[in-house]
Amino acid sequence: MDRRRFLGIFAGGVSLGLSSIEAFARSPEPLKWKRVELNFGLSKPVRVVHVSDSHLCFCDSRDDKKKLEVAKKRHLAYCGMPQTTVENDRMFGFFSATVAHAKDIGAFYFHTGDLIDFGSKMNFDVAGGTLPQENRLLAMGNHEFSEYVWDKRTGLYPDKKNIKELGDLARHDIAFASKIYGGVNFISIDNNYYNFSKIALQRIRQEEKRGYPIVLGFHIPIYTPKIFEAVMRKNKQVRAALVGVPDDKLALFPQEGARLIQKPTSDTLEFLEYLKGENSVKAILCGHEHLEIDDMLYGKIPQYCSGLGAIGYASEFLIS
Ligand SMILES: [Fe+2]
Repeated sequence: MDRRRFLGIFAGGVSLGLSSIEAFARSPEPLKWKRVELNFGLSKPVRVVHVSDSHLCFCDSRDDKKKLEVAKKRHLAYCGMPQTTVENDRMFGFFSATVAHAKDIGAFYFHTGDLIDFGSKMNFDVAGGTLPQENRLLAMGNHEFSEYVWDKRTGLYPDKKNIKELGDLARHDIAFASKIYGGVNFISIDNNYYNFSKIALQRIRQEEKRGYPIVLGFHIPIYTPKIFEAVMRKNKQVRAALVGVPDDKLALFPQEGARLIQKPTSDTLEFLEYLKGENSVKAILCGHEHLEIDDMLYGKIPQYCSGLGAIGYASEFLIS
């Protein structure tokens, strides 16, 4: 579905031409850009726009009343204002402006999860109608797999839902996908449920053979002491929500659900050993914490955790 058609349908009957949409996408509140330069030794520089946690909260009458109520409440919680139409939606404005900027500067677009707050027909239509058509990858967040938003009280995750819709939205394997762009191998991995799968390690070892520098994107950051402390502080010492949290740090979480789900599997520990060793991974892009922070992983791989896209955080990388 093209932009003109989906906005005509969903924006309260207001039909907007493509030029109006693009003008709108370029004039919301200013984005909070973080700009980073990296040197991989490329013959020609490559730009990347990295966004995470946009948490779109759209829902219409094709979903049930419970979800419509969830959409209203969640939108209010993120924006502090009631939801009106697509073209006036603050969160959508930020998201669409990042897409427009990526197009303007010819950047690869990497969204590292929680693009939508919950699965709904309208969320899938709006997100799919706005994302760049090419040169992009999505990593799945925990919210993508949620029907009505996960249970914060227990720290437990929802069952994996929306698998077909997410595959259609991403247009690539949502568990693991690779795209070469400008001499860089961009790789998306699903590390929800706080773990890396055995298949992810097998596939990245295959990707190593292609010989390109690798930029990994996944939703949940990998534990470092600096990020752990910052996120614990932000979350009032309830949980840190990272992959590979050591046992003595897991023991600090008061919720049993959070302790259990974050305990790394043997496959995850093996994946982390791969990252510690000799490899082609030059940078990691992630989100999940709603906190803009970065840290060096294992003394050699910079890990960039993007801030909350729903309130305008975004990053632009210039890789040379
Ligand atoms: Fe999020």
